[in-house]
Amino acid sequence: MDFTGRDIISIADFQRSEILHILARAAEVEATGRGKLLAGTVMATLFFEPSTRTRLSFEAAMLHQDGRVIGFSDVASTSTRKGESLADTIRMVEQYADVIVIRHPRDGAARLAAEVSRVPVINGGDGANQHPTQTFLDLYTIAKLQPALATGERALDIAFAGDLRYGRTVHSLVHALCHFRVNLLLVAPRGLELPEQYLEEARQAGVAVRTVASLQEAAAQSDILYMTRLQEERFPDPLEFDHVKASYRMTAAMLAGARPSMRILHPLPRVNEIATDVDATPHAQYFAQAGNGIPVRQALLALVLGRQP
Ligand code: CP
Repeated sequence: MDFTGRDIISIADFQRSEILHILARAAEVEATGRGKLLAGTVMATLFFEPSTRTRLSFEAAMLHQDGRVIGFSDVASTSTRKGESLADTIRMVEQYADVIVIRHPRDGAARLAAEVSRVPVINGGDGANQHPTQTFLDLYTIAKLQPALATGERALDIAFAGDLRYGRTVHSLVHALCHFRVNLLLVAPRGLELPEQYLEEARQAGVAVRTVASLQEAAAQSDILYMTRLQEERFPDPLEFDHVKASYRMTAAMLAGARPSMRILHPLPRVNEIATDVDATPHAQYFAQAGNGIPVRQALLALVLGRQP
């Protein structure tokens, strides 16, 4: 399977066999450890929005494999502030780098960048749209924790909790999970439910979807509980946000009824939705999940740059 020169913009661009190939490559890279897989290559990170994990794990992924990094994380320091268009920025950066990773507040910005660029473009998150490399690392993490994802020996119960309407990591992951044998459980505040298009995708794929009433129910009935941050700015009424925030906070005590093998994931950053006492339980896997960003992004970079792990 040859991915050389390919853009990574949306998880919808990938077939199941391609997803499994990427996960297998990531496992090989992780088993091999640091090396020279990306030696002689330059990656540009163009981050028009804040990021900790995505930008730093892409940069660490390059540095651990002898690659080099250029880029910006503060748009105020770039010529965008002088009015330079995104297309012109990409036409410049493609002359400096072999691959471009972009995060942008506008839905569709990564696709636009890929249409302009001669070098591969990787979407590090565009608006409320897609975050495909997060999805690959989420799938990698789920498959490590619950091998039934890849083997299909039983249907995994995967619960999503929080802001399912605007959360781009949720949208990408729901789409990807439609390639696998899963049941979806949803718990979201009123007004932040999963958009109809993703429910329809699940229906078309034969994936059973049901809503549950509380985080405790989600924890008790799932193999994986994928939690997301509630975004205060989405709530028109601050009083309603305070009320909802209180009912969307997982504590260690609330995990008493959880399946012993249930694991909690979160793309991070968390704010209030997971109490720190959950961190010490065997259910908490969100920091290990973020760590999986390194081998997964190394595998993706190697594949689009034509380097064989
Ligand atoms: N998960 C994620 O995208 O984190 P950052 O916003 O810190 O990159």
